[in-house]
Amino acid sequence: MIEAKTLNVEKVREDFPILARRIHGHPLVYLDSAATSQKPAAVIDVMDDYYRRYNANPHRGVYAISEEATAAYESARQRLATFINAASPKEVIFTRNTTEAINLVRYSWGRANVRAGDRILLTEMEHHSNLVPWQLLAREVGATLEFLCIDDQGLLQLDDLARKLEGVRLLAITHQSNTLGTINPIKAIAEAAHRAGALVLIDGAQAVPHMPVDVRDLGVDFYAFSGHKMCGPTGVGVLWARRALLEAMPPFLGGGDMIKRVKLNDASWNDLPWKFEAGTPSVAEGIGLGAAVDYLSGLGMEAVRAHERTLVDYAMERLQDIPGITLYGPRDPELHGGAVSFTLPNIHPHDLATLVDREGIAVRAGHHCTQPLMDRLGVPATTRASFYIYNRADEVDQLVNGIQKAQKVFA
Ligand code: ALA
Repeated sequence: MIEAKTLNVEKVREDFPILARRIHGHPLVYLDSAATSQKPAAVIDVMDDYYRRYNANPHRGVYAISEEATAAYESARQRLATFINAASPKEVIFTRNTTEAINLVRYSWGRANVRAGDRILLTEMEHHSNLVPWQLLAREVGATLEFLCIDDQGLLQLDDLARKLEGVRLLAITHQSNTLGTINPIKAIAEAAHRAGALVLIDGAQAVPHMPVDVRDLGVDFYAFSGHKMCGPTGVGVLWARRALLEAMPPFLGGGDMIKRVKLNDASWNDLPWKFEAGTPSVAEGIGLGAAVDYLSGLGMEAVRAHERTLVDYAMERLQDIPGITLYGPRDPELHGGAVSFTLPNIHPHDLATLVDREGIAVRAGHHCTQPLMDRLGVPATTRASFYIYNRADEVDQLVNGIQKAQKVFA
């Protein structure tokens, strides 16, 4: 029998130099990984090594260090393809982040395929980056937006999914809500969408860092995610899409590297994936993201998910005992990824986040780039604690103590 891997959190913590910091005299308790994750030394070192030893523009030079840069950058793409089970690295397009990946689809596929009268189906829990691009496209081409609603636990109401999918050209939906932590049943939703003739785009910014993701098993068409939330650097993200779709799509940005042949009044396009990668790429960042993939693969994504499920379960249990607290998001830990949002009577989330910061605890307060979701919940803001591989149960206890201390200040 093969034993499932479990995380050795103390060992993981040793890999993250920033966790040695003290904040206002306390050890840093970093509970904002949904905003950005911390970086292991393996990622920092590999980027440092690139700049020190083989900094050069990839795909352009025939000299040794340019070839080394090309090999390292393309090897990172290959490892990313394996990580999400893409059929080929040609389906892995490097972007700046999830937002840019979604906007690539909006500009390239959307403008060519969405027509006046078409419908785009979204949900009430989308991050602005998977909402505003579709508002802009709908306005531009005369399409309309429809929304799947959530229930009071932050679960999608899917009873009327088939009806809502009628006439839909694209379903764009988050895999895991950055605010509620809800993990959506993407595979079943994608099957229903395809039966209705719609394509499916997934915002995977909060999923790829936290659970095994197999884009082919999910059966989706486009999948976007960011490097910086999965132990990698900022400035690099990924759009994965089925190869046939990418082949048929027009380019996004024009410039160097995305062309095959340019004449004064015309140009032809490079092969995939470079057709969608104009200009000098984020080389160090791509290489760093490759190292992040190696790091997470070494831990095992099943183990990452299991660790977060335990932490969220514990956090929900501890937090619900705080008088007056309102917790958002699913009660079932199977459906709840590593982010927990809450509000307290009489303490604004920003005041709470400021007070717990004095104890060294970093949480995010605000609308979390989900203003329509805040409207649905009837609050201007929440406090959010989000967990990752380096968090321990005692940090949940410290958060609870910090909240209780803050409540005394406002009593
Ligand atoms: N999308 C990031 C968050 O949820 C920034 O905090």
